[in-house]
Amino acid sequence: MSPQDMNKKPPEIAPVEGKLGVMLPGLGAVATTFIAGVEASRRGVGKPFGSLTQMGTIRLGKRTDERTPLIKEFAPLAKLGDIEFAAWDPIPDDALQSAEKSGVLKESDLREVGDFLSGIKPMPAVFSQDWVKKLEGTNVKPQTSKREQAEALRSDIREFKSKSQCDRLVMVWCASTETFIAPGPVHESIGAFEKGLDANDPGISPSMIYGYASIMEGVPFANGAPNLSVDTRALAELAVEKRVPIGGKDFKTGQTLMKTILAPGFKARMLGVSGWFSTNILGNRDGEVLDDPESFKTKEESKLGVLQSILQPDLYPELYEGLYHKVRINYYPPRGDNKEGWDNIDIFGWLGYPMQIKIDFLCRDSILAAPIVLDLALFMDLAQRAGLSGVQEWLSFYFKSPQTAPELNPEHDLFIQLTKLTNTLRWLMGETPLTHLGVEYYDDYYRGT
Ligand SMILES: NC(=O)c1ccc[n+]([C@@H]2O[C@H](COP(=O)([O-])OP(=O)(O)OC[C@H]3O[C@@H](n4cnc5c(N)ncnc54)[C@H](O)[C@@H]3O)[C@@H](O)[C@H]2O)c1
Repeated sequence: MSPQDMNKKPPEIAPVEGKLGVMLPGLGAVATTFIAGVEASRRGVGKPFGSLTQMGTIRLGKRTDERTPLIKEFAPLAKLGDIEFAAWDPIPDDALQSAEKSGVLKESDLREVGDFLSGIKPMPAVFSQDWVKKLEGTNVKPQTSKREQAEALRSDIREFKSKSQCDRLVMVWCASTETFIAPGPVHESIGAFEKGLDANDPGISPSMIYGYASIMEGVPFANGAPNLSVDTRALAELAVEKRVPIGGKDFKTGQTLMKTILAPGFKARMLGVSGWFSTNILGNRDGEVLDDPESFKTKEESKLGVLQSILQPDLYPELYEGLYHKVRINYYPPRGDNKEGWDNIDIFGWLGYPMQIKIDFLCRDSILAAPIVLDLALFMDLAQRAGLSGVQEWLSFYFKSPQTAPELNPEHDLFIQLTKLTNTLRWLMGETPLTHLGVEYYDDYYRGT
């Protein structure tokens, strides 16, 4: 936060009244693990570990003030008890059937919340195999025109809001990764995008249609997958015009989370990195979708930028210029959702002496992603009540490939991202952002000033 930002008067925040509806395109492993976890927490049979909004505290004032409230008590966030859910999916399974097939949660845990999950049935999706080749969907909207599909989603949003009697809504994309495309002319302006909807432009993907419908209905939109979705000039401008917060892309879990924890440490200690080889085996539906080279390319783009951005080879050519970075994802059905992420890191230190680090992360993808969905939903809702609109860079903490203004390099360092997030909360709540300068403690103590 720049000094100008810090001096900016915090906005008024509308009170957190009534219910918050969380709408999820995609009712697969991540979405059902998220819903099951929220319900388990509400019923007191599970704890929302991994969620900053539920478990985290925030330091206010000086270290000696000893003011560290829970974030959920400091900022006016929606309560878990006030959340309603809705989803779209081309596969007609209800949330319980989908959770059973995903195989993330144990049967005994699903039994605790099964009655709740079976009540969540996906609405017909806007879906096209052009964008997700490995899936065949039957629960798909009949409309074939992109404009009509957008209108159908908008009417789903309005209907859910009125039926569930929610006061506010947010949308978090938890659907499959779409094939890779670079932004083209149809994404350059709102006008071009709307013309594209009317003309069924092939550059407009389903996730963009959900993003458009969400923004048009005044609903904040966060994108948990690496596909472009709202990361275009057209939809970012629309979000500002309609005063809607947006953010993306790609939940930061697993291997990339580890990279953004480790790489800042190597750089802080001026240790060189000559190679970083990452391979993954996973056997869930996401893994199957990513087995398609087009979908993998989208994921690869999202994963590769991280190290370059953290290590800054332009500033430190001797340490990082020759870095060889390789990422592989292999579909391996026996592993299910329990991914194995294996990293070999070649580093060098004093006088160029090489060292190696090996990491074998036996991780659970959806267990790491579910708390991110919750935090994004609650913070996006807060952002909207605070009148923040457009790209919410302070939520980069949650994304592998943070969406930013076009002229900005995204910040990937997890600890800078956390400082940005907590300072934004302090600023929103009229507290002084922390600089971590800390000289005053010594002035007070030794000089008695
Ligand atoms: N689990 C993680 O750690 C993690 C991390 C980063 C990103 N992601 C991303 O999150 C997304 C969800 O992951 P998952 O493991 O739940 O995958 P999943 O395959 O279990 O679920 C995705 C669901 O989306 C549905 N879907 C596909 N196209 C759709 C559309 N147009 N509209 C509505 N639904 C659609 C599929 O039918 C499927 O049920 C993926 O894009 C994945 O890459 C996951």
